[in-house]
Amino acid sequence: MVYDKLTYAGNLDNLRDLEDNPRHSFVRGDICDMSLVDRVIQEEQISTILNFAAETHVDRSIFEPGSFIQTDIYGTYVLLEATKKFGLDRMIHISTDEVYGEVMSGSSVESDPLRPRSPYAASKAGGDLICLAYHTTYGTPVVITRGSNSIGPYQYPEKVVPLFITNALDDLPLPLYGDGSQMRDYQYIIDHCEGIDTVLHQGKIGEIYNVGSGVEIRNIDMAKGILRLLKKPESLIQYVEDRPGHDRRYSLDTTKLQSLGWGSRHAFQEALEKTVKWYTENEWWWRKIKSGEYKEWYERQYGKRKILP
Ligand code: TYD
Repeated sequence: MVYDKLTYAGNLDNLRDLEDNPRHSFVRGDICDMSLVDRVIQEEQISTILNFAAETHVDRSIFEPGSFIQTDIYGTYVLLEATKKFGLDRMIHISTDEVYGEVMSGSSVESDPLRPRSPYAASKAGGDLICLAYHTTYGTPVVITRGSNSIGPYQYPEKVVPLFITNALDDLPLPLYGDGSQMRDYQYIIDHCEGIDTVLHQGKIGEIYNVGSGVEIRNIDMAKGILRLLKKPESLIQYVEDRPGHDRRYSLDTTKLQSLGWGSRHAFQEALEKTVKWYTENEWWWRKIKSGEYKEWYERQYGKRKILP
């Protein structure tokens, strides 16, 4: 059962493949709406919650932190309360490597302190901490996963990889923040989902599991990789004013999840190729998104942004 508020980034097209699947149903709702959450859990006899619901875009959190604090912290509380109240089997809370903050050397392990630096990262860290507090205080059966950047089909083109692919397809500039040397672990979405599935079935209650490919790529190399695959010139790369508080690097140690038998199956190049192919073949999906709300966002975010020499 999918429960989704369908905010700007939600889209029923993403569920098209499941339309005729008798095991799938959909309810439009907000995780902050406690009475609706409670009703749906009871009516649908839900036993397990996977909390993917969140405001997720760092740049948006810089303009408007309020909705992040609301959904990522208060919404998580609502789901924990329901898990406790109705005695659910377990809740898997999907979090992010960003809660560890910028990691200039080495890799983050699950017991590392949280040092979030953006309103987004801080709101996710708040959600993680309320999960752990519920487990400690009430014994609520919650498990946390912390994933690195996902790439693949159906990703809203505000995130850098689909943004750069769809801009490149239209011969538009690729706005690269700062000097482009920031590093991210871009993992293929299927690997990320398999990691979450492993935790769903084998993760220990009250524990945290990192999920990532373990390979960090510089943004400039990711941008050049996309252009190479699309046979577009590197002159499309446009260096623009950096994101305030831009974390230079995240890096995850995933030994703990690997000990449950999970392993990342897609190297970065293969993940990027599959992603580029999907956006190239599925213009029907992203062209209609790149109008309306998206255009307003793009203008606000990039319209007056300083272009660097
Ligand atoms: P993003 O996809 O927003 O994910 P996050 O910041 O949560 O990791 O950005 C990934 C990286 O790409 C990050 O280092 C910021 C950079 N970036 C750009 O250079 N230009 C852009 O237009 C965007 C959106 C991101």
